[in-house]
Amino acid sequence: MEPVNVAIIYYSATGTVHALAQAAAEGAEKAGAHVRLRKVRELAPQEAIDANPDWGRHIQETADVVEAGLDDLAWADVVLFGTPSRFGNPASQLRAFIDTTGPLWFQGQLTDMVFSAFTASNTAHGGQESTLLALGNTFYHWGGIIVPPGYADPVQFKSGNPYGASHVAGDGPPNDVALESARYQARRAVDTAAALKAGRAG
Ligand SMILES: Cc1cc2nc3c(=O)[nH]c(=O)nc-3n(C[C@H](O)[C@H](O)[C@H](O)COP(=O)(O)O)c2cc1C
Repeated sequence: MEPVNVAIIYYSATGTVHALAQAAAEGAEKAGAHVRLRKVRELAPQEAIDANPDWGRHIQETADVVEAGLDDLAWADVVLFGTPSRFGNPASQLRAFIDTTGPLWFQGQLTDMVFSAFTASNTAHGGQESTLLALGNTFYHWGGIIVPPGYADPVQFKSGNPYGASHVAGDGPPNDVALESARYQARRAVDTAAALKAGRAG
């Protein structure tokens, strides 16, 4: 059977979500998938970026990461979205990318794809769940198959977020539990897509 194609499409200003995205890529690759790691386009004004040295540094460090396009969605069997929480919602940069998907949606190309999402916020109760649930609204519209990590692996009892891998950025860079949760989330999405693919082929 053809391998599962996974697009990991994320926005990260200062690197936290990027680290989760890389862990998700590792998890998907280990599960046998073909992976495209893609950042969405930066839309913030330069003066906002210049006001935060970590932001500019991260842009430079990830200059070689390819920007997401609609072809990545069309190629994928699984899409994992990553975003920091912005006042309890996904970042506008990721939303702007999602808002370009009308043509794919119209052609039914997003229907029956597997979707999952991961996030970061500065504080423990700063909106991780609401951010992931807000992305879920879009997955419903697309007719996607939402595969959350739940508590389906022991690491999830440590991470404590069944909606998606997440990290409190105020505590520092993602720890082993958050990274392992992202790897697990990707593996579960790949395994589900592989089972769907096999079932449809049969
Ligand atoms: C405009 C804005 C809004 C934010 N809103 C929240 C929020 O509602 N709750 C929270 O805990 N952190 C909030 N943060 C902090 C970010 O979520 C945090 O810096 C981010 O998760 C770090 O991820 P990154 O390193 O990938 O950019 C906000 C940051 C900005 C710039």
